[in-house]
Amino acid sequence: METERPSLEGRFSFGLCYLRAMDAALSDFILDLPKVELHCHIEGTFEPELMFSLAERNGVQLPYPSVEKLRTAYDFSRLQDFLDIYYEGMNVLRTEQDFYDLTLAYLERINAQNVRHTEIFFDPQGHVSRGIAFDTAFIGITSALDHAEREFGISSELIMCFLRHLDEEDAFRTLDQAESFRHRIRAVGLDSGERGNPPEKFTRVFAEAAARGYLRVAHAGEEGPPAYIVGALDSLGVDRIDHGNSCLEDEELVRRLVREQVPMTVCPLSNVRLCGVPSIDHHPLKKMLDLGLKVTINSDDPAYFGGYMNENMEAVTTALGLDRRHLVTLTRNAIDAAFAPEPRRQALHEELDLFVATRND
Ligand code: HPA
Ligand code: ZN
Repeated sequence: METERPSLEGRFSFGLCYLRAMDAALSDFILDLPKVELHCHIEGTFEPELMFSLAERNGVQLPYPSVEKLRTAYDFSRLQDFLDIYYEGMNVLRTEQDFYDLTLAYLERINAQNVRHTEIFFDPQGHVSRGIAFDTAFIGITSALDHAEREFGISSELIMCFLRHLDEEDAFRTLDQAESFRHRIRAVGLDSGERGNPPEKFTRVFAEAAARGYLRVAHAGEEGPPAYIVGALDSLGVDRIDHGNSCLEDEELVRRLVREQVPMTVCPLSNVRLCGVPSIDHHPLKKMLDLGLKVTINSDDPAYFGGYMNENMEAVTTALGLDRRHLVTLTRNAIDAAFAPEPRRQALHEELDLFVATRND
């Protein structure tokens, strides 16, 4: 499998400051590992170059004069700083072709990184609220996902997120808009500003989604307290927790998450960029693994946070001293937690087994 080899500078910086060198063999191991991603917002893969090109195509004026100036705005102190820019960037997406181009660009990148299965979020309310039809986003995104399955063999699942800063009624409306596309939307999720928007706000919507056959996930414990993780589990009945870092503040909750082996989609570079942790060296991922939590590594919003799957894996491996066994465990956890049909999960496990068996260099 041909994989993309980032430049030396790319390997060691990614715009962040972890300048410790990484063992080249370990770096190759990460590149070649058949990976699974479970937490990536497709609108968060909007690279500035593509954003400018689509803005020009659509006659949209961006509030930044250049790609460079836009990138310098990616200096966040908290989640809301990022969300303001994220929603602004989304405004460029107008046509089915735009959503197709956005999604295909992400899939080409992850193909070069040997990601074999991905589960992406999309935010229909972020589009419908500015006059873009649900169908436009859905068809553009899924056409690219279908293309990637055919051309690259990357399987995928789609997760429709509700924006938690909006009300329950808006979420119900969105659930209804998704009705004719239910066959291709595997799960519902909950994202956007966490603080002040507890999971319980959406108990009834999630119950209805469950009744209609959707699996469920929710962002919880990214900026919110451990109680929001408990709420996501007990009030929303989620199958996975997105992020979940704040569980470490509550020993009883950690014991429960370990006992129930609740999958958690951790996003290391996102946590650094949004100041959830002071630096990558302080990231709790290794501690979470050591505690027996079922954690996975994910990119969240890679165009905004400094890296895709490989960059996230390299960052934590270098900073926290992870070894191959940790990386394989993280990948196995992701396969176990994936919403792909059982035969596909089986095939992903077999691909990983084969990789591990043949990689004794
Ligand atoms: N957190 C919450 N909501 C989001 C994010 C995130 O990192 N990215 C896009 N929506
Ligand atoms: Zn997220």
